[in-house]
Amino acid sequence: MCGIVGYVGPQDSLGVVLEGLRRLEYRGYDSAGVAVLADGQLSTAKKAGKLANLEKQLAEADLPAATIGIGHTRWATHGGPTDRNAHPHVSADGRVAVVHNGIIENFVPLRAEVEATGVEFTSETDTEVVAHLLTATYRALPAGPDRLAEAMRAVSRRLEGAFTLVATHADEPDTIVASRRNSPLVVGVGDGEYFLGSDVAAFIGHTRNALELGQDQVVEIDRTRGATVTDFSGNRVEPTAYTVDWDAAAAEKGGYPWFMLKEIAEQPRAVADTLLGRLGESGELVLDEVRLSDQELRDIDKIFVVACGTAFHAGLLAKYAIEHWTRIPVEVEVASEFRYRDPVLDRSTLVVVISQSGETMDSLMALRHARDQKARVLAICNANGSTIPRESDAVLYTHAGPEVAVASTKGFLTQVVACYLVGLFLAQVRGVKYADEIAAIVDDLRALPDAVARVLEQMEPVRELGRSLADANTILFLGRHVGFPVALEGALKLKELAYIHAEGFAAGELKHGPIAVIDQGTPVVVIVPSPRTRESVHGKVVSNIQEVRARGARTIVIAEDGDDDVLPFADHVIRVPRTPTLLAPVVTTVPLQVLACEIADTRGLDVDQPRNLAKSVTVE
Ligand code: M6R
Repeated sequence: MCGIVGYVGPQDSLGVVLEGLRRLEYRGYDSAGVAVLADGQLSTAKKAGKLANLEKQLAEADLPAATIGIGHTRWATHGGPTDRNAHPHVSADGRVAVVHNGIIENFVPLRAEVEATGVEFTSETDTEVVAHLLTATYRALPAGPDRLAEAMRAVSRRLEGAFTLVATHADEPDTIVASRRNSPLVVGVGDGEYFLGSDVAAFIGHTRNALELGQDQVVEIDRTRGATVTDFSGNRVEPTAYTVDWDAAAAEKGGYPWFMLKEIAEQPRAVADTLLGRLGESGELVLDEVRLSDQELRDIDKIFVVACGTAFHAGLLAKYAIEHWTRIPVEVEVASEFRYRDPVLDRSTLVVVISQSGETMDSLMALRHARDQKARVLAICNANGSTIPRESDAVLYTHAGPEVAVASTKGFLTQVVACYLVGLFLAQVRGVKYADEIAAIVDDLRALPDAVARVLEQMEPVRELGRSLADANTILFLGRHVGFPVALEGALKLKELAYIHAEGFAAGELKHGPIAVIDQGTPVVVIVPSPRTRESVHGKVVSNIQEVRARGARTIVIAEDGDDDVLPFADHVIRVPRTPTLLAPVVTTVPLQVLACEIADTRGLDVDQPRNLAKSVTVE
């Protein structure tokens, strides 16, 4: 969702900013723009649509050479995705250019205030008001070294909502300023040059040294003075410096036509990296980074798992494993609903927030609600240094590496594995499982990367099947027990990538309504549990396959190696390696990712950046 780039240094700023925007494309956007500052003048270019449209305009506009610039990819919220709503927004006197990520909730009264001074707005955005306020505030301040930063602080104090703002002023040839509240922004520190980015991908081609910006802080980047961080009142703040642990190559496609395919292929390594260093020699769990004391973990009497989208599906799977291993009750809730329901939380509640990006606003707000109610918060997150882990009591990083495709794949698998680690660790600390029981599960976990690799070796028939399903109007997904969240995830992948109507059902619910939609030829994907799963869940799912087939469904069955019970009722069988029941989703999800990707590709769609979607949803 909205990408922001800023640059001050010796290089051609337009090139650096465009490269940064290209690397942030994965966040999702529907217009893009840049502003550069040269010879006391701001020059801007902005265009609806993809970056290629902007580049075409730039080729005609011939912007002056400059060494300071800002850029933006916009995901429309206030005002449609048009040229004039694209960022940057420039003040009426042409002296200030601003880019923004987030939503300024009080922009209506602020806009009325600005309009009352005679300023005419040129866009429908909430952002434009900031450009006008900044220029007026700057004008009213005495000349001084941090005049633009002071203007930004004064304006930020008046804003409500979520925002990352980056601004340049035509009278400040060596400075850009930025402000952040509830929206992400990181500072890249190079050799005599500085970068701003919504995330480190914006500048990873130039430097791996970064500074974290905290909540309600302003950073001034000056060509000679460097980066100065203050709070909104102007008090100096020492930013936390860190080194980004992945490089530019990790964010490139590496020969794959889509980032999503590359990320699917990376899953064996990603799962191995999530486990790395966390499984001890004697089969015990080593989670040193979970900064909750053993006593705090023993005191937990209830767990909530809170997340959005695919991460929510990982949370649903966490419930099966954590309850089974620890006997602690687990509730799973979509983050956008959590705080409105007034959940019962206290010191002995553990809230697990799962987020690949660590910036999802709904999840962040749920986290803050949980902390306000004194619950302990543990984040499961992929993006290092992002807001959610920073604001949590403890964090377990998934170490999946950068996930660029909007559709989460390795992010999901590694979240599921991290949930297993949390569940087992709790069982270990609380002493509810014998050491040899834990060691046996640890052995099963160690086998997961290979199992995923084996699934990936057999994907050609799945791709072929995907091509044959490209014209389907609707595809249903059924599962029982841990197969149910997998069915939900399979349906979500298909919806977001192929724009095909898809729904995931608990197979047992079929007869209570959904079976009515099955018609001649309706594709139904069934995730079949292992025959070794307790209470004959397997047999019940095999019956469900027969029921849908009897009503004309084309049955696509995901079953473990050697399960021949499904053969008489399956139009297509996708095989996965034998895996213990609770861990099976790590292998059964993979063919569903490949299937959705292939269907979308066959339909000629943009697999990495599906329409209307953003990689990280930084507004509520
Ligand atoms: O970054 P997060 O894990 O917090 O993101 C949550 C969802 O927005 C995300 O999983 C979304 O559903 C993906 N597009 C699914 O592929």
